[in-house]
Amino acid sequence: MSSTTTLKLQAIPVDKEIENLIRSSKEIAIGLNANDTRHFGPDPDGLKILPESTRKRLVDAGIDISEGYPSRPDKSLIPVYVDEAAAIRDDDYEYVERAKRADPEKKALLGAAKQVIHLTNHIGTEIVGLQLEDLTDQQKDELALLVAERVVVFFRDQKLSPQKQLELGEYWGRVEKHPQASQVNGLPGVSVIWQDYFQKSLGVGLTFKNNNLGNFDATKNAVRGTQVWHTDLVHEKRPAGLTHLHLDAIPEFGGDTLWASGYAAYDKLSEEFKKFLDGKQAVYVSAHGYLDRKNPFSGPKKIERVHPIIRTHPATGWKSLFVNRGMTKRIVGLSSVESDLILNYLFEVFEKNADIQVRFKWTPSKPGYGTSAIWDNRVSQHRSTWDHEGKESRHGTRVTSLAELPYFDPESKSQREALGLPLDEKDFF
Ligand code: SIN
Repeated sequence: MSSTTTLKLQAIPVDKEIENLIRSSKEIAIGLNANDTRHFGPDPDGLKILPESTRKRLVDAGIDISEGYPSRPDKSLIPVYVDEAAAIRDDDYEYVERAKRADPEKKALLGAAKQVIHLTNHIGTEIVGLQLEDLTDQQKDELALLVAERVVVFFRDQKLSPQKQLELGEYWGRVEKHPQASQVNGLPGVSVIWQDYFQKSLGVGLTFKNNNLGNFDATKNAVRGTQVWHTDLVHEKRPAGLTHLHLDAIPEFGGDTLWASGYAAYDKLSEEFKKFLDGKQAVYVSAHGYLDRKNPFSGPKKIERVHPIIRTHPATGWKSLFVNRGMTKRIVGLSSVESDLILNYLFEVFEKNADIQVRFKWTPSKPGYGTSAIWDNRVSQHRSTWDHEGKESRHGTRVTSLAELPYFDPESKSQREALGLPLDEKDFF
């Protein structure tokens, strides 16, 4: 090394030097997944495996896929350090809860539907005979309330462009634009859910034997794909409210998604245990990792944020249990042993109580059409299944509207309390 180079290196702070090195190197992956070989910008390799029905949807919508698909933010724009990533969307702004403006009877929405099918008692409703792209603002408000009450709502056979999906998301809140996820070309905010593509380009390494291991212990087993029970974007200052997943390529069998209700999970707890948890907070982490500026060689560091463990939903006013196996690290104020013990039990309340879950079978539609699921992340967990093992394509686009600063209102009621349903603890022991 010449003395001029040495002098130049000394003049640049070490963190900047590392950042420059990562950004300029073709060999070093950004986003800290060493197997990540995804192309920056539109990916020509993605086109080789793009399902026909997805291609039709994108082309019908005028999305330019001539240079490749999907698109990844430019390497120069992806944060290297965790402090930069945490600073995204750290600002203050007013969130408008659309569901609060809705007619509680939802006449405009439900009255226009051909059929309204409740899939289980506690969670999940399917609406038949409406196109999401045609909803009026009044119907969108009522849909937001229906989702808040039923946790997840489904619409099959939808002609929905990614642009319209984004517009709908923007109506319900500020849309999250992920700093490193693959997205629809030209539409940051419309993330791509495409395990077949990630298998190759991200080196996810999903197999029949390993795809579910994270549900036994997410800290010990690599979390691959979306099979681990989770809630989206809990590390955000204002975590996810409504998330809308639209699948436009669906295997004939398999690839189902499951959701579990946070209201019902809370009501599964004893009244004594509820009192213990009410008002407690936990540390929530991001799915993606970045570097610690002060200790860049210590490995991936996640964004961390503290939120209440029991949240009150601003529209329903009901309390909900807000934890998930993938991304809740610890309960504030408890020892790590106490926290692990309690959190593991709380994760299992969601995962083991089949009566508070719904398992949705996506059905393939005609080319260019798809099926939508819209869920409220404030009051739910979800997970996908990988039983199709990538033999048939499964592709979707996802838009997430961020919601309020999470809060716990000590005066709020649980769902069963509010609805006058029994909270009987007879035969509880
Ligand atoms: C997700 O976790 O958001 C995706 C779920 C799915 O692919 O079914």
